[in-house]
Amino acid sequence: MVEKTADDASPGVRAAVALAVTGALCLAVAALAGEAAYPWLKAVHVIAIISWMAGMLYLPRLFIYHCGAAPGSETSETFKVMERRLLRIIINPAMIVAWVLGLWLAWKGGHFAAGWLHAKLALAVALSGVHGFFSAAVRRFGEDRNMVTARQWRIWNEVPAVLMIGIVILVVVKPF
Ligand code: HEM
Repeated sequence: MVEKTADDASPGVRAAVALAVTGALCLAVAALAGEAAYPWLKAVHVIAIISWMAGMLYLPRLFIYHCGAAPGSETSETFKVMERRLLRIIINPAMIVAWVLGLWLAWKGGHFAAGWLHAKLALAVALSGVHGFFSAAVRRFGEDRNMVTARQWRIWNEVPAVLMIGIVILVVVKPF
């Protein structure tokens, strides 16, 4: 078992505060800016997506290196801290902001009837499922119970990238 230090708790609190401040600012922009709110909140959506994707591309890379570290070694314990913090401070809050603003943009822009949005939502749900799988893997690595090989993690490493390519083409090209 990994000990949770006080040092681990404070980044989690900081992430929650950052999430609350982002939510309050977005609400204020939505309420005060009228029509101008749409592009501003779309910009925040894209910023959240970049943060989410950065984490989703880096976390499985950490898992690959972690597979090569002996359980209980200092290196393994360092990877546990890096994985836990990346998930809690970057990946989880970024996913929440991306979903909330994505759904707001879809509602405000009247996109819910569009075929491209249905396909994008399906891929975003798949990406969120991969997020859940990575999150469970962080817990298993933390308890030295990972069963996935480095080779399998290399394959998982490509899945978020493939989903991202599909999502970006759907939302920018809007082919249907
Ligand atoms: C989580 C659920 C998501 C929902 C409900 C959602 C919904 C939306 C909506 C409605 C727009 C505005 C489209 C427009 O104004 O033309 C948008 C913009 C955008 N989204 Fe998402 N999105 C989500 C996740 C994602 C993901 C996972 C990515 C990339 C990996 C992404 C990338 C983008 C980009 C790049 C834009 C800007 C497109 C442009 O202005 O041309 N979104 N999203």
